Amino acid sequence: MEKKIKKIKEEIIFKSNSVSNLKDIEKIKVEYLGRKGLVTLLLRRLGELSTQERPKIGQLLNQTKREIEELLKIKTIEIEKLEKNKKLKEESIDVTLPGKKSDRGTIHPINLVLKKTEEIFLSIGFKIEEGPEVELDYYNFEALNIPKDHPARDDQDSFYLNREILLRTHTSPVEIRVMEKQQPPVRIIATGKCYRRDAADSTHSPMFHQIEGLAVDKDITFGDLKGVLTVFVHRMFGEDRKVRFRPGYFPFTEPSAEVDVSCLLCHGKGCRSCGYSGWLEIMGAGMTDPAVFNMVGYDPEKYSGFAFGMGVERIAMLKYGINDIRLFFENDLRFLKQF
Ligand code: DAH
Repeated sequence: MEKKIKKIKEEIIFKSNSVSNLKDIEKIKVEYLGRKGLVTLLLRRLGELSTQERPKIGQLLNQTKREIEELLKIKTIEIEKLEKNKKLKEESIDVTLPGKKSDRGTIHPINLVLKKTEEIFLSIGFKIEEGPEVELDYYNFEALNIPKDHPARDDQDSFYLNREILLRTHTSPVEIRVMEKQQPPVRIIATGKCYRRDAADSTHSPMFHQIEGLAVDKDITFGDLKGVLTVFVHRMFGEDRKVRFRPGYFPFTEPSAEVDVSCLLCHGKGCRSCGYSGWLEIMGAGMTDPAVFNMVGYDPEKYSGFAFGMGVERIAMLKYGINDIRLFFENDLRFLKQF
């Protein structure tokens, strides 16, 4: 019996040295200490021994049982530790690996033009105003001397939300809102998004941006308008640019003008990009119509004013030589990173 116990001990030590997972330990436990385990069976057979031998062997067996339990416990802890380390290693992050680069954009060309415009006008005494994109028909048309049956409504196909509310088709309604809430002198610009029911092509987009300007005071003349817009063109496009005013028509200005800048490519000589005219149209402008002053309660006998409005996309296209308006809205970093 003693020999058997010794052998069991040796076996256990040998086996436990080669276990590598918790399952093997469980197996050993069952094999030796389970209900039909070797040690358990020996313990059961104690009765067969003589009264002399029984206490000695009994003690030895119990001690062996405790030793096995202790050994397996130590092994279990060891293996648990190993498995935990292995798992940690598998899940660890190699901080020396090169990271994934997230591409960064730059300031959008439309915002660059808006920022520059604001800088220019702030420096010559204008204030910045804003108005809602969802606008009343009254401000977008009526108060700007464009009554319901006016033909000027045709070329501004609008997004109406109901009979009285629409997405503004231009920034001119901000002029009315500003004049309604303050008395002259007024010197403001307003920038923002506008909407028209145009199909997108290289020069049209259903959403675009405009810059509006308005100055009202005693004795404002067309000369003031020319002076202010010439300063703007020179600072936006360069001192060597020429500015031209052609007669035009807008319901809210009288007289009205279309403003041209000398072609940036051929410097006025005439080339493909300016249709061989040497000039590029950049905005509409004029002297505020007395009918508009009447709408906001300004006395047209006492005050005069000028106004202008331009498309930001068009300015940006001319400034940076961009030939398709859709590029502004595609968010292609290859395009955006050039500014
Ligand atoms: N609102 C006009 C448009 O969208 C542009 C414009 C023209 C604005 C003349 C003005 C102006 O203030 O005086 O076509």
